[in-house]
Amino acid sequence: RTGIELRPGLDGVPATQSAICDIDGEQGLLTYRGYPMQDLAANSSFLETAFLLIWGELPSRDQLAEFEHAVQMHRRVSFRVRDMMKCFPASGHPMDALQSSAASLGLFYSRRAIDDPQYVYDAVVRLIAKIPTMVAAFQLIRKGQDPIQPRDDLAYSANFLYMLTEREPDPLAARIFDRCLMLHAEHSLNASTFSARVTASTLTDPYAVVASAVGTLAGPLHGGANEDVLAMLEEVGTAENAGAYLDEAMAAKRKIMGFGHREYKVKDPRAVILQALVEEMFARFGHDELYDVAVAIEREAESRLGPKGIYPNVDFYSGLVYRKLGIPRDLFTPVFAIARVAGWLAHWREQLGANRIFRPSQIYSGSQLRAWMPIDERV
Ligand code: CMC
Repeated sequence: RTGIELRPGLDGVPATQSAICDIDGEQGLLTYRGYPMQDLAANSSFLETAFLLIWGELPSRDQLAEFEHAVQMHRRVSFRVRDMMKCFPASGHPMDALQSSAASLGLFYSRRAIDDPQYVYDAVVRLIAKIPTMVAAFQLIRKGQDPIQPRDDLAYSANFLYMLTEREPDPLAARIFDRCLMLHAEHSLNASTFSARVTASTLTDPYAVVASAVGTLAGPLHGGANEDVLAMLEEVGTAENAGAYLDEAMAAKRKIMGFGHREYKVKDPRAVILQALVEEMFARFGHDELYDVAVAIEREAESRLGPKGIYPNVDFYSGLVYRKLGIPRDLFTPVFAIARVAGWLAHWREQLGANRIFRPSQIYSGSQLRAWMPIDERV
């Protein structure tokens, strides 16, 4: 067919209508269901924000209490899941462990009731509740330890940090982590969310929806970038090296991790909030010299990448917060998934509300009709 323009990466092509999240990439504005990210980060909690994203309105006090209680009651995972995780190689990447364990939840819960509101509520609760438990469990299992059980007296974020580090976190650390989760909870039709919607459009179960999105999030051009940012900061080593590092990377046509975004032509508003959180963390728990390197890279990048509209994205400062919280580097992307599951589930519900299976077209660029060639005549 002629006359159809190919847009690699579907750049600028609307693939759905959505009322969940809006991005103004010129002004650097991000809203969830109409509420500016800054207001949510200052006033809300991750679970309240997840409720807002998934059901469209801020919860009443009773709705929030019920949701928080339900999540608390579903934090534990079956011993079968834990035993399965014990068979995973300790050297495997935690995102692969998470993708497998998220998919395994589908084995436990029926997939035939996605039009039943109770099934939907329960699936949302289970996924939000169990994903952090599975991330923390794999961390302990790969160290040769038994996972520790969630603690009912701890709120969502504090409990995750406790299960991961085996220590009850400082309340400020838990609060900052909770804000990080809010910042990562949703971001319109990014690659993993698109993946979630495509999977949802087949009417498969929500565990498969989340598992496919986790697999997509894992790549270095998407969620995986936060891991690479810290490696880059360590490689640069000191603030003085920042300019030379950028020049060399750009000459070699290497991308600077944690910079650039399809939607934003200014500094990502999430990076602005995260940078403030980094500074709050350091004021309380001590400075990290890698922050000086990061600030120097941002400053030096202004003249080199700024004219192309390339500025720090959400991944640039998040790793510094996580490092201070004692989260190992290869868990940064699983932590991103803990947050983003809220957005994926919001899109799952929205997709089911007006479903049409995704089946885009393509522009064929292969051979025209060819005569069959017997094997002995092939060169
Ligand atoms: N460093 C240097 N140059 C860059 C960068 C970067 N980080 N990002 C884009 N560019 C340049 C790119 O080389 C290209 O230049 P030219 O036009 O001269 O060939 C131009 O900007 C357009 O780049 P693109 O790759 O076509 O842009 P895109 O919209 O397809 O990619 C992106 C967006 C996020 C994949 C890309 O900016 C990137 O690879 N960034 C580094 C990885 C990263 O930080 N990813 C996290 C994204 S935010 C969180 C998330 O999505 O999970």
